[in-house]
Amino acid sequence: MAPVAVQTPAEPAPVRGPIDYKEAFITGPKAYNKEYEEKGSAHQAPAKYPNYLPTWDSKTYPPLEPFTHYDHGKDADLSFPHLFADVKPKTLTPKIGSEVHGVQLSKLSDKGKDELARFVAERRVVAFRDQDLADLPIQEALDFGSYFGRHHIHVSSGAPAGYPEIHLVHRSAEDTAARDYYQERTNSVTWHSDVTFEQQPPGTTFLYVLDGPEAGGDTVFASMVEAYNRLSPEFQKRLHGLQALHSGFEQAENSLSRGGVVRRSPVANTHPLVRTHPVTGEKALFVNAQFTRRILGLKKEESDMLLKFLFNHVALGTDFQARVKWEPGTVVVWDNRVSTHSALLDWDDGHRRHLARITPQAERPYETPFEEPKQG
Ligand SMILES: [Fe+2]
Repeated sequence: MAPVAVQTPAEPAPVRGPIDYKEAFITGPKAYNKEYEEKGSAHQAPAKYPNYLPTWDSKTYPPLEPFTHYDHGKDADLSFPHLFADVKPKTLTPKIGSEVHGVQLSKLSDKGKDELARFVAERRVVAFRDQDLADLPIQEALDFGSYFGRHHIHVSSGAPAGYPEIHLVHRSAEDTAARDYYQERTNSVTWHSDVTFEQQPPGTTFLYVLDGPEAGGDTVFASMVEAYNRLSPEFQKRLHGLQALHSGFEQAENSLSRGGVVRRSPVANTHPLVRTHPVTGEKALFVNAQFTRRILGLKKEESDMLLKFLFNHVALGTDFQARVKWEPGTVVVWDNRVSTHSALLDWDDGHRRHLARITPQAERPYETPFEEPKQG
């Protein structure tokens, strides 16, 4: 019999408290110099993709409305004939990550996109090389992405003028944030899945590079399915039925503190600690150090202890992680429901790094009951 979805509570509990919010990629309008980007400076050539330079307009948006997500991965042919006609993806690590040469994402048919959603759900993260997504008019890139869900508009990130649905990661060559950051911190690792504080966080997510240092700024990913599978059945059982609060308040406050914008009132939402993928049926751990604050129903010390264990479990799981190197033309696609990631701030100041994200939202996370591991 198919597992029955467990209902999640309708209202988030208003649990907040002092936390040590960590975000290494602190950029914003204060550090941004439009002229240096458009015309170049002593440290950098003009931006390769000026149409993607960030703006922070003062437009505000109402709260996000719930919507029904249909995951096209459900319609995929599991032999992937439309995605990989005569191409063989390279496996980066057994548990997570593939790399693909010879497929042009923007040219995929709808059947190819169905298979893409499914393949990415299975591999958690896939790096596609030599892509033309960044060269298309921005609206065409968005039209491509809209197949995978409703576009998310970020509360605080910079966006290309007129395209708030594009989330930009931008650091100028003049930016001293790395030097400043390491005055206070020993590392930049910030494991998270994107915007998990939303009621319907993203699913199939696209990040593409526009400009970057020759080496450095890799992104590391971890499989949250494997993170769940590595736990003992007894421990898994205990996690089932628990809900955690995910908060976007600190990220919004962080944006304001650096002169940035908050386009929509920040929110917090509760999600199950273990979620089920709607297409593969796999269970995945669903907590992250950046946004998960508290496990509901536990006392603070109990919640802190359990979350700390889970965060460390993921951070130490190099044997279920993959590190993706950015090359010109790379589009990295991940399934935000079954993976977690961290950018790495490891290159010296003096190089621009510029990426764009298309972030289709997916279903509200749900869990299905614990199942005993299959014998044999
Ligand atoms: Fe992210």
